[in-house]
Amino acid sequence: MSDTPRLRSRAWFDNPDNIDMTALYLERYLNFGLSLKELRSGKPIIGIAQTGSDLSPCNRHHLVLADRVREGVREMGGIVLEFPVHPIQETGKRPTAGLDRNLAYLGLVEVLYGYPLDGVVLTIGCDKTTPAALMAAATVNIPAIALSVGPMLNGWHRGERTGSGTIVWKARELLAAGKIDDEEFIRLVASSAPSTGYCNTMGTATTMNSLTEALGMSLPGSAAIPAPHRDRQEVAYLTGKRIVEMVAEDLKPSDIMTKAAFHNAIRVNSAIGGSTNAPIHLSAIARHVGVDLPLTDWQDVGHDIPLLVNLQPAGEYLGEDYFRAGGVPAVVAQLMGQGLIDADVITANGRTIGDNCRDARIEDEAVIRPFERPLKPAAGFIVLRGNLFDAAIMKTCVISEAFRARYLSNPDDPEAFEGPALVFDGPEDYHARIDDPSLEVTSETLLFMRGAGPIGYPGAAEVVNMRAPTYLISQGITELPCIGDGRQSGTSGSPSILNASPEAAAMGGLALLRTGDRVRIDIRQGTANILVPDAELAARRTALEAEGGYPYPPSQTPWQEIQRNLVGQLDSGAILEGSERYQRIAQTRGISRDSH
Ligand code: FES
Ligand code: MG
Repeated sequence: MSDTPRLRSRAWFDNPDNIDMTALYLERYLNFGLSLKELRSGKPIIGIAQTGSDLSPCNRHHLVLADRVREGVREMGGIVLEFPVHPIQETGKRPTAGLDRNLAYLGLVEVLYGYPLDGVVLTIGCDKTTPAALMAAATVNIPAIALSVGPMLNGWHRGERTGSGTIVWKARELLAAGKIDDEEFIRLVASSAPSTGYCNTMGTATTMNSLTEALGMSLPGSAAIPAPHRDRQEVAYLTGKRIVEMVAEDLKPSDIMTKAAFHNAIRVNSAIGGSTNAPIHLSAIARHVGVDLPLTDWQDVGHDIPLLVNLQPAGEYLGEDYFRAGGVPAVVAQLMGQGLIDADVITANGRTIGDNCRDARIEDEAVIRPFERPLKPAAGFIVLRGNLFDAAIMKTCVISEAFRARYLSNPDDPEAFEGPALVFDGPEDYHARIDDPSLEVTSETLLFMRGAGPIGYPGAAEVVNMRAPTYLISQGITELPCIGDGRQSGTSGSPSILNASPEAAAMGGLALLRTGDRVRIDIRQGTANILVPDAELAARRTALEAEGGYPYPPSQTPWQEIQRNLVGQLDSGAILEGSERYQRIAQTRGISRDSH
């Protein structure tokens, strides 16, 4: 924090050196009812980056919450300019919402930098909206605070909680086993979405909104409040009030999102059983704010943290329960008690995370466990490498007893397994062939998905977790090890090996794999290798390169082509390479030239 600078909006509305342009900027912002006096009063101008729309139903409640944000801003003497962010709907956007995060980021950077905004409220929620907003705020580095839209209410079906996404994976197995029909399948899935808000499981949305709070970028206790609750309205109002103070204090994203804050977030991620998308998004945010956060930090810092939050897919409960049990502050307090949180990190409310969370209590120990009685010990991610890829991750807290018994309990080789690979090139290939009896899949088989990364798909799709063939499901074998260069939904309880980098389309080792090759995975060593001699792999590489490399479908839109040309791999955040050079541009690049 430094002394209060002259507000950047003054360069538009009150520039004595260029009265022509001042007049030109002023007259058009008067159009919707602001007055000359207001615009020239020196009041801070606060943007509301609106991610809600009819196309983004998870975030749509922000259209309502924005009214309360406005009231908070106004009450503190600010002026609001609300504007749309490129819509992102996780489930609705083809070929994948993963393609749109960097596009929304680019758009938001241009808006935050190029318009007269002194601070911004980032409305976050559905999976990619959160990282896109934080990445842009990090790049521009004007005072920014995030407001979560909150999770949906709990879903119920016949007396049982049905959680977003997680129920889909379960319903698919029931449908494949012939236990339910199509109609029941749709009813079961729809039951998980009873209200406005984002996914009520510990999917990527709940994860990223929780981690935003753990990073210090939203008000304490705000992430878990269900979307329809009255507290959600109140926190919208308080967020509006607070951003005006943050502008006066010049409290910027770079002051809050320090390396210590990211390490706090990684530990919280393990304790909540967070999504495998979190490393991708936190890497991206860290790179844009200039913090070095290698993928190995997830294992080094996060692996030994126990699972405390009993939410689906790793556990039983849903978003309403998480809120009622104390949400993020209760989790942070448990970790703080063990010295696992850097308590001195400053947060958006101007206080440290320690001061915010020290006294937070667990209100229901069935939902949030005390540190001494975790659901699982050492529940973080492990990072694997080998001749299949340089880096991939596995979420250990979702390893089921059945999976552990089948694959990780060989007395001679307790944390390793090997078997023949069955390789699919994209989800279409998988759907077409998985139930083909001639593939002769057994419980030994390892399923591979490739062509699903940031370049290959493009955008990196959530397609790596694959169910077993129906003939195995009817024998009671529902999960096989899944490995791939795409992502997996945070709502999936599959212990897949994900985000493999470099992807097949970038000629990583996955591109060289053939169905029938034996593959060995060693969890303790952190290795994943094709058991084929190096010379053979080198020959395959030469042959594939001669054919032009691993094939993937042509780009269908200009953005797909631009993204493919610039995007990096998942292990380093899959950002547009080069964009990280534009750091803290509000401080480093001055204000842009006049428009006329
Ligand atoms: Fe939007 Fe899950 S699909 S939050
Ligand atoms: Mg998803």
